[in-house]
Order: sequence, then structure tokens, then C-alpha cells
Amino acid sequence: MTLRHFLNTNDWSRAELDALLEQAADFKRSRLGRQMAGKSIALLFFNPSMRTRTSFELGAFQLGGHAVVLEPGKAAWPIEFEPGAIMEGDTEEHIAEVARVLSRYVDLIGVRAFPKFQQWETDRQDKVLKAFAQYSSVPVINLETITHPCQELAHILALQEHFGALQRKKYVLTWTYHPKPLNTAVANSALLIATRFGMDVTLLCPTPEYTLDPRYMQLAQQNAAENGGSLQVSHDVEASYSGADIVYAKSWGALPYFGRWEQEKPIREAHRHFMVDEAKMALTNNGVFSHCLPLRRNVKATDAVMDSPACIAVDEAENRLHVQKAIMAALLGQR
Ligand code: CP
Repeated sequence: MTLRHFLNTNDWSRAELDALLEQAADFKRSRLGRQMAGKSIALLFFNPSMRTRTSFELGAFQLGGHAVVLEPGKAAWPIEFEPGAIMEGDTEEHIAEVARVLSRYVDLIGVRAFPKFQQWETDRQDKVLKAFAQYSSVPVINLETITHPCQELAHILALQEHFGALQRKKYVLTWTYHPKPLNTAVANSALLIATRFGMDVTLLCPTPEYTLDPRYMQLAQQNAAENGGSLQVSHDVEASYSGADIVYAKSWGALPYFGRWEQEKPIREAHRHFMVDEAKMALTNNGVFSHCLPLRRNVKATDAVMDSPACIAVDEAENRLHVQKAIMAALLGQR
């Protein structure tokens, strides 16, 4: 039997995603369960985290299981991912052993590994996550690499709680300024999941260079066609916000500038006005605002937006706990 991982939501059918969301809603009503009794998960963080780490550790605990957190290169050995590497550099062990050894200890493995931001052609191969999936004999969960599928489910659950059915809702994914060029993972994921649930999606970004990787643009177009929604790209702030039901904000670096960010910086600086503020939200259809967090206040969104009843970012963050418990239970075959 093929080993089932949770690497991307597009690998899971809509019926399976709906079942995960139903289970997550059940877990939200009643926190404790025994679905992980005697089971464990190794959480490998190559990058920082607050929500993901806390919610997975607590989720495993609440289901009667145990989580082990490892930070390769810090308190755990640095790992080599190149096949056939002559390991004379800084890495001390190969993924072939790391994944196989962890698979003897634990029942699930979670991996957070952001792109290196030097060459998108390399980063888009998602080598770290794929190597864990290749060598592991237990299910692997994507904790954010070049997509963020756990965030996708938490986001959709928060929207369902607010709206009920999401079909044909007007959804705006807006780029926002950030002093650093950030990962495109959450933006890719927002397009994938919003189109999967049949929403009319606008990707609002400063220039065509901020359009996302063609792989995700095409998958989102395909999702939209299959699920009765739509996808368009816009650089017009006012038109995009007008009548929107949902505004989701994220900052990301423009892919053509990978490895030469100093040339991208002036473009980012010139679009600080993309910050989500009260005037823009006033154009919406009494819309909700969300963000995956962490969020720099008064850079990405104003205090007034973050503190308004329209902001469901904290609900979304809470839902990380519930959806991840559903994912862990499903991968262990324990609904
Ligand atoms: N949204 C999210 O993944 O948060 P952390 O980076 O804190 O885990």
C-alpha cells in the first residue's frame, strides 16, 4: 500500500479535505481524544515558528501522543540532502539515515524548510520535504516549505465558521509590503485552497513580477475551472477591494529577483501603500480580513484593521491546532 503523506492539499480529494475539516470542527468542540495514544511525531524545524510548533506539540498531547522537536543544525546534527554527496563540509549525517532512523522511533514526521531565497529554480523543487517523503517509512506532514497546507485548512475552517458555504465568495489575496522579501508559500497556498473551494479569487499585486510561480497559477486555474470559481490577477487596489467578501494579506518577494534582492527592494518600497487599512476595507462587502501571522502591524495592516471585528486572523491561528489534530489522526488511520 502507498504511504500517504500530507505534503500539499492538491494531493487530497475535496471529499477528504471536507472530512478533515469536519473532524477539525469536532476537535474544536471537544479538545481531548485518544487518536494518538502511544504514538509520536517528530517535528523538524529548519526555520523559526511560534504557531506551528506550539499547535503541533499541544495537538499531539491533547490526542494522547507525544511530540519531539528537532532543529537540525542547532541542537540536532546538520543534515545533507544531496544524493551521492561526498560529505566533507558542514553536514554530519544524510537524510537517508535521518528519515529512516526517525521512522523507527516515531509514527509521523513534520518538516518546516523554507526556500533558501537564492535560486527559485532550485527552491521550487522542494528538495528537503521530498527527501523526507522519499526516505521516511511513516507519513510526512508539510509544516511550510514552498506551500503551507496546514495553514490552508485553518484558513478555510475560519472562513466556513464565518460564512458557511464559500462557493463564489469574492476572495482577494493582496500582496503587502514587508522590509524583507518573504516566502511565497502562504500566497501559493491561498490561491490553491480558495480556488479549491470555488471562490472568485483575485490575486492583487504591485506588478506582473509579483505573480506567483506558474505551477501554482496553473493549478489554481485548474482548481477554479473544476470547482466553479475563477482566478484573475489585478494591480488595481480599488477595483480588487470593491465588493470583496474576504481579504487575505501576505507579503512575498518577486520571483524574477531571487538572488538579487537589492534590485527588487525599490519596487517593494514603492508599494508600501498596499498596506491593508480602514479605507480599503470600507470598499469591501462588509468583508473579513485575515493573515497567517506573524504580522507586522502598521506595515502589512493597520492597528485599526487588526483590532476590528472583521479580523479573523486569531480564529485562523487557533484553527491550526484543530486541523492539525485532524491531519495527524487521519494519517494514523484514527478518525
Ligand atoms: N502561520 C505560521 O505558520 O506561524 P508560525 O511561523 O509562527 O509557525
